Amino acid sequence: MKIIVADTSGQAFQHAADMIAEEIRGSQAPVLGLATGRTMENIYQLLVQQHEAGTLDFSGTTSFNLDEYVGLPPTDPNSYSHYMQEHLFSHVNMPAGQGHVPNGVAVDLEAECARYEAAIRTAGGLGLQLLGIGETGHIGFNEPPSAFDSRTRVVHLDDVTRRQNSGMFGDDPERVPERALTMGVGTILEARRLVLVAVGEGKAAIVDEALNGPISEAVSATAIRLHDDVTVILDEVAARIWHRNKE
Ligand code: F6R
Repeated sequence: MKIIVADTSGQAFQHAADMIAEEIRGSQAPVLGLATGRTMENIYQLLVQQHEAGTLDFSGTTSFNLDEYVGLPPTDPNSYSHYMQEHLFSHVNMPAGQGHVPNGVAVDLEAECARYEAAIRTAGGLGLQLLGIGETGHIGFNEPPSAFDSRTRVVHLDDVTRRQNSGMFGDDPERVPERALTMGVGTILEARRLVLVAVGEGKAAIVDEALNGPISEAVSATAIRLHDDVTVILDEVAARIWHRNKE
């Protein structure tokens, strides 16, 4: 595992964006696994800048997002489908239909999960999978405990996560949907390459647990240590406790 500690969050975002851009340029038909949330907004902004500068072509790229809230249609400003349009898809030349997000309003959610897994397989599997980390240690929406061989499925969101994500819902955790669709830990581990990005003091304790703590299904992010091509990108404050505790 490669751990990069950047001096600033801006440098951490730049590093992640550069890795994604390299993946896109270095592959004939790149298949990206994408994430949402506050951390990723900054990374997408940098990718959009590269596209607008004429140095990054998304026309051959396919992407699969990690997760979506159950019950929110793509038109809902809080849906992850809407987020992806707003922060990436509408600004770059990825053909419509190549940016996949699970359908949180599917009539049959189980069938939607199976369809999503099959679509990833049909695309040739995930290449670079971008990951954030939640306060519960989740990657995607794999709340504790999540089996390391779990697949795309319906999950109940932890109260901690509903509070963490309440900013988009008028600071009211009760308005954050109770359920979501998420790629499983097993689905994520099958990506060829994992890139986890965490910045800010609020992430320091969970980053330490993920990197120094016992590998356990009680902290989904510890699963990345089982993968043989992982880059963790941190800023100095997010790295502080991990750095102090590492042997
Ligand atoms: C969202 C996702 C989550 C977030 C995590 C961190 O698609 O996969 O695991 O990456 O909750 O979110 P932020 O960046 O908002 O702190």
